[in-house]
Amino acid sequence: MRALLIAGNWKLNPTSTEAAAALAEGVKNGLGTATDVHVAVAPPFVFLTKVDQVLAGSPIGLAAQDLHWEPSGAFTGEISAAMLVDVGCTHVIIGHSERRHGMGETDARVNAKLKAALAAKLIPIVCVGETKEERLAEKTEDVLLAQLSGSLAGLTAEEAAGVVLAYEPVWAIGTGLTATPEQAQAVHAFIRKWLAETFGEATAGRVVVQYGGSVKPANAAELLACPDIDGALVGGAALKADDFLGIVQAGRDVAARGK
Ligand code: 13P
Repeated sequence: MRALLIAGNWKLNPTSTEAAAALAEGVKNGLGTATDVHVAVAPPFVFLTKVDQVLAGSPIGLAAQDLHWEPSGAFTGEISAAMLVDVGCTHVIIGHSERRHGMGETDARVNAKLKAALAAKLIPIVCVGETKEERLAEKTEDVLLAQLSGSLAGLTAEEAAGVVLAYEPVWAIGTGLTATPEQAQAVHAFIRKWLAETFGEATAGRVVVQYGGSVKPANAAELLACPDIDGALVGGAALKADDFLGIVQAGRDVAARGK
């Protein structure tokens, strides 16, 4: 049985420590002590310490949005896995499409970051997904195969079981266009099949595969009900506590029905 993971990726938001603390406070108060679904928030680096303080005593995980693979040294502007652990992080997002497409993040770098995260006992959330052009050219599976095999290269089955994958079709991110539950489930099943072929059935059955791309309270229930969709990575709707909590509630309803 895989517990659902609903994570909020705040991206380059909000613009002040005060606003970040207020958003975290809203999510914390709304969730209370519920643990039937796993919940995490990913604020910008500079707010991690404050948000960790706000979340004290709550079951909400704290995620960073990126990390560097080196532990320390002359890497201006970078943040290491150990630093993230030191400020209270439990999770880290790796290879988000906004970094793959906007910042030149390669599968090799994602792989190095993933290994650094695993070594530091951070739960990695590794993002994969095709662009609109790739989908229209019917290259979705080829793109995912390259991203999955490159990003997860060299992992043991036990390591792979601890990775969270997030399928985020680039054309659905921030566009209001959501993959239909059928489209998303088809890709999630393809990812699960790849996991089974690569790491074995038992491992494939343990890996949490989130969907991301314009997830809102109104569409979360039907996506989360799909058999291979194990949670959501939420962008825009994670910036309002009520919207994010609405998605969390959709996950709790699905979990209560025994998924
Ligand atoms: P939106 O929910 O704003 O489409 O963003 C999705 C995303 O990129 C989460 O990482």
